[in-house]
Amino acid sequence: MTAQIADDFNSSIRFDSRMYRQDIMGSMAHAAMLGAKGIISNDEAAALIDGLQGVLDDLESGTLTFDMSCEDIHMFVEQVLTERIGDVGKKLHTARSRNDQVALDVRMYLRSEIDEITALLKKLVGVVADKAEEYKTAIMPGYTHLQRAQPISFGHHLLAYAMMLLRDIDRLADCRRRMNCSPIGCCALAGTTYDTDRRFEAERLGFDDICRNSLDGVSDRDFGVELLGALSILMMHLSRFSEEIVLWSSWEFRFVELADSYTTGSSIMPQKKNPDMAELVRGKTGRVYGDLMALLTTLKGLPLAYNKDMQEDKEGLFDACDTVKMCLEVFVGMIATMTARPEVMKKAAQAGFINATDLADYLVKKGLPFRSAYKISGQIVAQCIRENLVLETMPLEVYKTYSPLFEEDLYQEIDLVTCVEKRISEGGTCAASVNAQLEYVRAQL
Ligand code: ARG
Repeated sequence: MTAQIADDFNSSIRFDSRMYRQDIMGSMAHAAMLGAKGIISNDEAAALIDGLQGVLDDLESGTLTFDMSCEDIHMFVEQVLTERIGDVGKKLHTARSRNDQVALDVRMYLRSEIDEITALLKKLVGVVADKAEEYKTAIMPGYTHLQRAQPISFGHHLLAYAMMLLRDIDRLADCRRRMNCSPIGCCALAGTTYDTDRRFEAERLGFDDICRNSLDGVSDRDFGVELLGALSILMMHLSRFSEEIVLWSSWEFRFVELADSYTTGSSIMPQKKNPDMAELVRGKTGRVYGDLMALLTTLKGLPLAYNKDMQEDKEGLFDACDTVKMCLEVFVGMIATMTARPEVMKKAAQAGFINATDLADYLVKKGLPFRSAYKISGQIVAQCIRENLVLETMPLEVYKTYSPLFEEDLYQEIDLVTCVEKRISEGGTCAASVNAQLEYVRAQL
């Protein structure tokens, strides 16, 4: 007899009970198949299905609760069923093993998690697109090396994130496609001597195909690794976005303001409004990466087919899905309520002299060689810095002391709006391109 401590150690019901619905649906399809193939009688199949429906209903309504002394959800369901309908309950496990059963449940559970995560992602993309639309004319400094580089619109910047999130949606769809193959009927590892119909079950349970090799069917967890990979990339995107939000909402940048409902105050520093949500999303990214590493490591030394090590797949997968869903939900609210400060962004863009090249080009267009124009522009920038001015606020008389070529129209040429609007290449930051991107993003949803 197994020692109590060994039983506790071995048992997984405390975390796999959340797959009760998938487990029961799978068993119903299995019972129907056994009946249809004449492996059990039609009456027996009907009794099993009816009994399973009752277990499901009672679990959902809360009149039945999990018995934590059962080893796992599969044993629990079968035990309750047999208690309720008698010996016929013991026929359910014909031509099946917990090895193919658990592989089936996990695939079905994760499949519906992917659908939920995808719906949340679409919501977030929609909110990001709406913000991008709202601020498509707000000009900010675009950065490389976190140094002010070229003026861009805030809408353009936000749409970069929309593109990343669209790729995440696509990656999840791709992962779902390979996940959606049914392992049920692979049995313990070698298949079965009964004349079963695996495709009958697969079809009932919404699978597109069946696993073609019974050993692979019970030992494959690639779909979990792929999902964790896709979720890790998604979290990396949210984390980068979070990092920018933390920076932008700091007093040093003041580009955006997060709503009170998505920030926290400090108990002793009344001026503080902390971007905790963004920081936590950034922080939780580590958990999801950890879940990916844990599963890869669990699998790497396993001989075929099933090994108990594989029971360790679930907690990480569930944790990653829960974490991602929470992060996405919070993100939707945080972005929807975030406001930008276009005046501050614009000032930062001007203070970066990111239009100095355009000033030099102005002189070139008036006939000066580029090298000379570049030198003059450099001297003007230096004077601006000395006098705490920007190119746009330096008076024309001063410009004229550097070159008689300067005229009133120079201000039009170095205007940041002009600089942005000149970036007309496809995918660039001009308004027409931002509009085209918006249209593309929305069409994807
Ligand atoms: N609780 C087990 C798991 O999650 C179910 C499969 C058990 N199979 C076995 N041969 N012990 O992996």
